Amino acid sequence: MTNKYIDVYTLIEPEMCKLRKVGIETASLDCRLLLTKSIKKPRTLHNHEYINITNKEIKKFKYLIKERLAGKPVSRIINKRNFWKLEFKLNESTLDPRPDSETLIYAVLNHFINKLQPLKILDLGSGSGCLGLSLLDEYQNSKVSFFDTSQKSLEIVKNNSLKLGLSERSKFLHLNWKDDNWDTTLIKIENDTKFDIIISNPPYIPTDDIKKLQKEVKEYDPPIALDGGKDGMDAYKLIIPKLRNVIKTDGKIFLEIGKGQENCVSKIGIEHGLKPIELQKDLSGVNRVIVFIIK
Ligand SMILES: C[S@@+](CC[C@H](N)C(=O)[O-])C[C@H]1O[C@@H](n2cnc3c(N)ncnc32)[C@H](O)[C@@H]1O
Repeated sequence: MTNKYIDVYTLIEPEMCKLRKVGIETASLDCRLLLTKSIKKPRTLHNHEYINITNKEIKKFKYLIKERLAGKPVSRIINKRNFWKLEFKLNESTLDPRPDSETLIYAVLNHFINKLQPLKILDLGSGSGCLGLSLLDEYQNSKVSFFDTSQKSLEIVKNNSLKLGLSERSKFLHLNWKDDNWDTTLIKIENDTKFDIIISNPPYIPTDDIKKLQKEVKEYDPPIALDGGKDGMDAYKLIIPKLRNVIKTDGKIFLEIGKGQENCVSKIGIEHGLKPIELQKDLSGVNRVIVFIIK
């Protein structure tokens, strides 16, 4: 096994050119992340540091670049993604966390200023756990119940919570909001205690729009995490009518929404005893999170 001592930039430069040629704008970061995985470094490499690398590791790096060139997202190749302040492991059953969803964390922080409050939080459709675990990390005395119908997603949340040292304040619930009595089942499990905060980023893409999404999304994110039915509203119509039964009277609900869905989701909320009090925009200026209280 021959070893090479070389700087990162020299090694990745030809591969960066290949990625740029196919329109990948994040070529430099992508190459560094893939090289980091190839040599199993615990932190992301910088352009101008020197590394020891074997021929076998160079071969591995080139193989990962081929996968990237074929359209596989970096997060799916390395099976992890940074979100808010933490790093999350992913599997094929979890949505790849999006920067837009950080808007929800920001909204909660704005509404619950005291970080020492012992908040009881429900994460409906928890996926990798990026939302609930980020809140557990921010609110040191809080507890989160992670609710998902995908057993494989729940395994990843468990894994992430252990790795981040947050498992003692986490509860994992294999439940389905398509079940008529999900609210009563949930409250029974919770010993009749309702929640201070409910967060959810449900699937909200209208079925016919999924085929128009980028290859990186439609081919690698699980359909169960994307498909919101004909008008994108299926999950909201199942979740919202039950929320009054599981939220404390002074609690707050934070729902992520797709572009242009604020009126439909507000209407469903109002019809079921909730009052929309705020829309939080994401970094592109799109209304991304709607905040409800009990009417
Ligand atoms: C858009 S993903 C959000 C994942 C994660 N919270 C995030 O923001 O990255 C929606 C999640 O809802 C879950 N889900 C879909 N249908 C569900 C159902 N009927 N009951 C419970 N969870 C469901 C999916 O498994 C998926 O993890």
